[in-house]
Amino acid sequence: MEEQYMTTELRIAVLCGSLRTGSYNRKLLEALIEKAPAHMQFDEIRLHDVPFFNEDMEAAGDPAPVQRLKEQIKQADGVLIVSPEYNGSVPAAVKNAIDWASRSRGLLAKKPFAVAGATTGTLGTAQAQVQLKGLLVHLDAYVLPNPKMLVNGVEQKIAADTGALTDPSTLKRAERFMHEFEEWILLFTHAAEANREQW
Ligand SMILES: Cc1cc2nc3c(=O)[nH]c(=O)nc-3n(C[C@H](O)[C@H](O)[C@H](O)COP(=O)(O)O)c2cc1C
Repeated sequence: MEEQYMTTELRIAVLCGSLRTGSYNRKLLEALIEKAPAHMQFDEIRLHDVPFFNEDMEAAGDPAPVQRLKEQIKQADGVLIVSPEYNGSVPAAVKNAIDWASRSRGLLAKKPFAVAGATTGTLGTAQAQVQLKGLLVHLDAYVLPNPKMLVNGVEQKIAADTGALTDPSTLKRAERFMHEFEEWILLFTHAAEANREQW
């Protein structure tokens, strides 16, 4: 990669699909941030106060938490979703946030996304990730297809003393995942810039 690309500061909006205190997915999110290239800056989109999507509410004007989440996505060079799997699918809080965001034309289109997740189960959110990626593709977002960041049996990968995700092979994958996400974002940013310059 060229030098100028390596030093580009990237703003990443991050979203944790679990609202619970002590969430394993939040621990995975923290590990991904820890392992990310230094020039990636992170800004969390909090889902706790985002109401269920309702067209009446929307017609009256987006509530403050929705305005905030839309602005955070708009300002971001990329969006990272780290989410559990609920009943083989995407948690309602994540789907709800995407439904709100999808109502602003062009907000998600051509925006680079990456999806990661952890479960106490065996498949590490595989089913939910397939669905979430499909949903984002439906909205014309650019979703990193690979590498996959699936963490199964996550409760065994947490250190008892610190509560942090410390499993060496997971951390190694986390580092690669974040570097691949960086490259994915730069691919679109610079390809678009080069194309604009031609015209
Ligand atoms: C409503 C519900 C549904 C779940 N469904 C699945 C599932 O389909 N697959 C799976 O591997 N784990 C499933 N789990 C277990 C989660 O992997 C586990 O609770 C995990 O800790 C949730 O993530 P968190 O720690 O970030 O909150 C489910 C948990 C809940 C509460």
